Amino acid sequence: MADFVGAVDQGTTSTRFMIFDHSGNEVGKHQLEHEQILPQPGWVEHNPVEIWERTRSVIETALHKTDLTAADLAAVGITNQRETAVVWNRRTGRPYYNAIVWQDTRTDRIASALDRDGRGDVIRNKAGLPPATYFSGGKIQWILENVDGVREAAEAGDAIFGNTDTWLLWNLTGGVNGGVHVTDPTNASRTMLMNLETLDWDDELLSFFGVPRSMLPEIKPSSNPDFYGKTLANGPFGGEVPLSGDLGDQQAATVGQVCFGVGEAKNTYGTGNFLLLNTGNELVRSKSGLLTTVCYQFGSDAPVYALEGSIAVTGSAVQWLRDQLGIISGASQSETLARQVEDNGGVYFVPAFSGLFAPYWRSDARGAIVGLSRYNTNAHLARATLESICYQTRDVVEAMRQDSGVALDVLRVDGGVTANELCMELQADILGVPVSKPVVAETTALGAAYAAGLATGFWRDTEELKQNWNEDRRWEPRWSDDQRATGYAGWKKAVDRTLDWVD
Ligand code: G3P
Repeated sequence: MADFVGAVDQGTTSTRFMIFDHSGNEVGKHQLEHEQILPQPGWVEHNPVEIWERTRSVIETALHKTDLTAADLAAVGITNQRETAVVWNRRTGRPYYNAIVWQDTRTDRIASALDRDGRGDVIRNKAGLPPATYFSGGKIQWILENVDGVREAAEAGDAIFGNTDTWLLWNLTGGVNGGVHVTDPTNASRTMLMNLETLDWDDELLSFFGVPRSMLPEIKPSSNPDFYGKTLANGPFGGEVPLSGDLGDQQAATVGQVCFGVGEAKNTYGTGNFLLLNTGNELVRSKSGLLTTVCYQFGSDAPVYALEGSIAVTGSAVQWLRDQLGIISGASQSETLARQVEDNGGVYFVPAFSGLFAPYWRSDARGAIVGLSRYNTNAHLARATLESICYQTRDVVEAMRQDSGVALDVLRVDGGVTANELCMELQADILGVPVSKPVVAETTALGAAYAAGLATGFWRDTEELKQNWNEDRRWEPRWSDDQRATGYAGWKKAVDRTLDWVD
């Protein structure tokens, strides 16, 4: 009897495999990091072969640690860092180039050219995205233009593209021996190549990037009752399990947080922050700098859409205090240090290290620390760093309110930074709404497991999943309205100082 569901979570810094029971509780997991390859300023790469090897290991080790086998798993789901682009040869299984990561800015010329002649507006309208280095389309174009032999191989049908979900699904189902080449609409909606209304690749969009359709995976539902394929007896699972769920990691966290109702939102605090608001079957086009994206598509149901506020640098700003400035020795120390002072002492830190993402989309911005006087200490800077995470979130919440008319009554949170109590207190204060965290904080892997288990009938429906959600912690706002307004005005002034910094 298969009592569990597994999920591979292939993230930006690590890959994990997790096993959940019917109540959504974690039964076991294993996690391994992979190398961040930084060949030049602004370039960020991963080795896809290393990612596949790490994936194999985490699956094998988690099963071994829990004494479970493929027969105990009713289904397996995949979730992944989105946008990161892999191009490989379907005959040899070898990548043509490292994966170009979502944070990589090498395609800034490709992105800005799109906005000079009206193509940008076509992309906004059809794909729901502003032209930016963030998304996969320009990364595929860069590989086609800069890596020898790829263009010819793509035209011959040998060079194929995928985000890391597709790369892993292809390898898990046999690779060169018949691996399936598939993705789901949530991942496809981050490429600038998919039409949000048809949920299919769009010829006009493909022509903007010179991407042949034959390179692209087939788009199947995120929860797929027909399965993408099955794991193999001679693969890391050691047996056949349906691969039936696939979601980009932020959409997976939205599912894991059971945000199935229109107006429900979650915010994930990782290296960056990603706030998604479920807009139901309605495609809401942002006028305020948010992305329109697919939230999930379950079986033959109509797709559910979301508005997304993507913030590039949040948790990684805390890492910067540790690694580049050396003022803390670990992430948890940012809280201890910041608690030494009662407020930010007038200091604001805008960590626009790779420009600003939502709602600004300004690649010409660079980071700034403003408001300094001799009175200030490391503690103020630590506090300003935590506040920057919360103020950036406030910026996207404001944009969401403008776009959707929906004012949040509570913000559901997850991700590593939510372990920082002070940061969560500040978040409630800066937003003026309560912040709520679930017992199962691994919502990303859980969401992928839910998508997979719904497809095979392990879970009946989304109502059943909602029963699994339980609150662990809640932070209530304590600041006065005045304090909140003054603090936010200071933040907006600080953001202004970061713009127009590079040509
Ligand atoms: O859009 C990028 C996002 O999917 C990356 O998430 O958790 O791997 O940093 P994460």
